[in-house]
Amino acid sequence: MSCTVEVLFSPAEFRALPERDLRHTTCVVFDVLRATSTMVAAFAAGAERIIAVGEIAEALAWKQRDADVLLAGERGGWRISAAQTGGVDFHLGNSPREFLPPTVAGRTIVMTTTNGTRALRACAGAARLLICSFLNLGATVSCLSAQPSENLCLVCAGTGENAALEDALAAGALCDRLATTLPMVRLVDSAALARAAWLQARGNLPEALQEARNARRLLSLPELRDDVEFCLRQDVFRFAAGNDANGELRRLP
Ligand code: MLT
Repeated sequence: MSCTVEVLFSPAEFRALPERDLRHTTCVVFDVLRATSTMVAAFAAGAERIIAVGEIAEALAWKQRDADVLLAGERGGWRISAAQTGGVDFHLGNSPREFLPPTVAGRTIVMTTTNGTRALRACAGAARLLICSFLNLGATVSCLSAQPSENLCLVCAGTGENAALEDALAAGALCDRLATTLPMVRLVDSAALARAAWLQARGNLPEALQEARNARRLLSLPELRDDVEFCLRQDVFRFAAGNDANGELRRLP
């Protein structure tokens, strides 16, 4: 079976996904800085499942229905506070370094972030959905090789309304590994572009990302700057993550 790979770079593109027929498409979502890296770190720390929601109000409604869930997420990069919710402080922000076993092991996390969880929600119609980051890139390639899909749509969450270089590079790295692993891969122009960018940047990723908007911002904040180095490590976690048969986001076996 041949596998056609495309990359969506910007929020305007992922917002159009609900109009498309994705029943024969696997979507792979990247928000390297930081939502998908944080989700992967949460699963590595033993989180049971993640419910991605677009809005703070949806997260609060989940908590009303199930008092046991942990609330996580950010606005403007910072943990959501009582002032933004009318009284409820979220348990966790969007830093992967916060998601540690004593807090998250065995727990359900309801998460809302500016771009990452919205990109995930936009893929709701896909046959399969994977959460990817540099941290679990190799395991994601193995998962896609074990169960190849006719159409792969790599969805970059971006920063604000714009494309984000770190997401495009991670999508490009996946394209490169797929092209060298799967026999019948066809990269459409957007995927070829992402791959070319990756091949140019891969020798020095931190340097390549010096000018990336979200990386620059995080690096300028003492509390969050270490997230950048954390998220740029490759293949630290040897598992894929994505939706299970019930459509819930989990670490995949
Ligand atoms: C997002 O979902 O927009 C991001 O992960 C932003 C962030 O770095 O917190």
